[in-house]
Amino acid sequence: MKLADNKATLSFSNGSPSVELPVYQGSIGPDVVDIRKLYAQTGMFTYDPGFMSTASCQSTITYIDGDKGELLYRGYPIEQLATSCDYLETCYLLLYGELPNPQQKTDFVNRVTNHTMVNEQMQFFLRGFRRDAHPMAVMTGLVGALSAFYHDSTDINNPEHREISAIRLIAKMPTLVAMAYKYSMGQPYMYPQNKLGYTSNFMRMMFATPCEEYEPNDVLVRAMDRIFILHADHEQNASTSTVRLCGSSGTNPFAAIAAGVACLWGPAHGGANEAALNMLEDIQKMGGVAKIGEFVSKVKDKNSGIKLMGFGHRVYKNYDPRAKLMRETCHEVLDTLGLGNDPLFKLAMALEKVALEDEYFVSRKLYPNVDFYSGIVQRAIGIPVSLFTAIFALARTVGWIAQLNEMIADPEYKIGRPRQLYVGATKRDVQPIDKR
Ligand code: CMC
Repeated sequence: MKLADNKATLSFSNGSPSVELPVYQGSIGPDVVDIRKLYAQTGMFTYDPGFMSTASCQSTITYIDGDKGELLYRGYPIEQLATSCDYLETCYLLLYGELPNPQQKTDFVNRVTNHTMVNEQMQFFLRGFRRDAHPMAVMTGLVGALSAFYHDSTDINNPEHREISAIRLIAKMPTLVAMAYKYSMGQPYMYPQNKLGYTSNFMRMMFATPCEEYEPNDVLVRAMDRIFILHADHEQNASTSTVRLCGSSGTNPFAAIAAGVACLWGPAHGGANEAALNMLEDIQKMGGVAKIGEFVSKVKDKNSGIKLMGFGHRVYKNYDPRAKLMRETCHEVLDTLGLGNDPLFKLAMALEKVALEDEYFVSRKLYPNVDFYSGIVQRAIGIPVSLFTAIFALARTVGWIAQLNEMIADPEYKIGRPRQLYVGATKRDVQPIDKR
């Protein structure tokens, strides 16, 4: 962290002495005011529910310029990564800071590929779930359970354990997601086949059966790989902050990532892709494009409790760059599958147009986010709606691990422990039960 030339001064209207606070500069983006000593100096905390103005850490991994609609992984624009690299190269970049050269890529791919199988006992654990369980409920359990299976990589303070747990998690997530899917369908699990690439392997585990092989289609595999790249990291979002906070207690990496999976499930976060597709299907059932106006009016009515899912973002106040790439992929996938006239895609584009021209959305700077189009792509590929968020979790696992490892290696890292403004009852005495 680099000290800025200026300092911030906090003054009080009650005559208490003012305090000077250091200001730090990042390599890009807003400066930060360092308030770590504020409590010691003033006896006061800062108040920022939802972390609207709080940087919880310093990080070198991902940068978002929300006003420009720009997303960089380790400095590289997401558009270049999505068009020039594959998911495992992106994983390498997020984990180690640089894109791999050919030898490094081969070694990394081999290492990940060697860990694609899960302990055979995992399938008995999976069997304990109801077949109609939501895949995110199953994934929260399965990922947490990995710590019960891989005892040799659970010490978060040991760099070798962190490295092997990272590789294991990246390698095993596709296997676990596919197992959760097969279990829900009542079909036998398909073991990974290591001669295949990461993403084709995942698609084969999803769609092949012992009696019928899956023939990977290059466009669909590439689309799925792009979904993985676009979801790989997104700086200090809710699930990543959850992983950091959970890991800050020194818990094992599998437990910390399971916490991230649980957080991602919510409809305001990763669950938005499922919610967005359900929303499009509901509008379609209501009458499709002709009903967009009616639906948008409901969204604008604060009493309705209805949101335009796949729209809006805490950081992006411009078009989410991932949404643009996803829309492009949508075209490619639908054309490849001969679904160029897909009514849901047409509906999504018409809805986007109406919203982008509507004063409500314009004044609040609400634009489509990654989830607006990703559901249409996944549905066309054959992924069931309830599995969308599990696929997001699969892709985000590398980001969670990179952020967790960065935190543990940071000499300034401490257990995360926010404070509060207490507004409850002041001290009082317990009355005997007959007097209450
Ligand atoms: N539909 C209708 N109104 C909205 C929407 C929306 N999707 N998003 C925000 N608003 C309104 C909100 O009601 C508020 O209006 P007002 O100022 O009149 O009270 C204003 O816009 C600002 O919204 P906010 O809720 O204060 O913004 P936030 O930063 O707290 O929330 C968000 C961000 C993503 C939770 C929210 O935009 C949302 O719920 N979007 C729909 C869910 C969604 O698509 N989530 C995926 C996010 S991207 C993938 C990921 O990172 O997980």
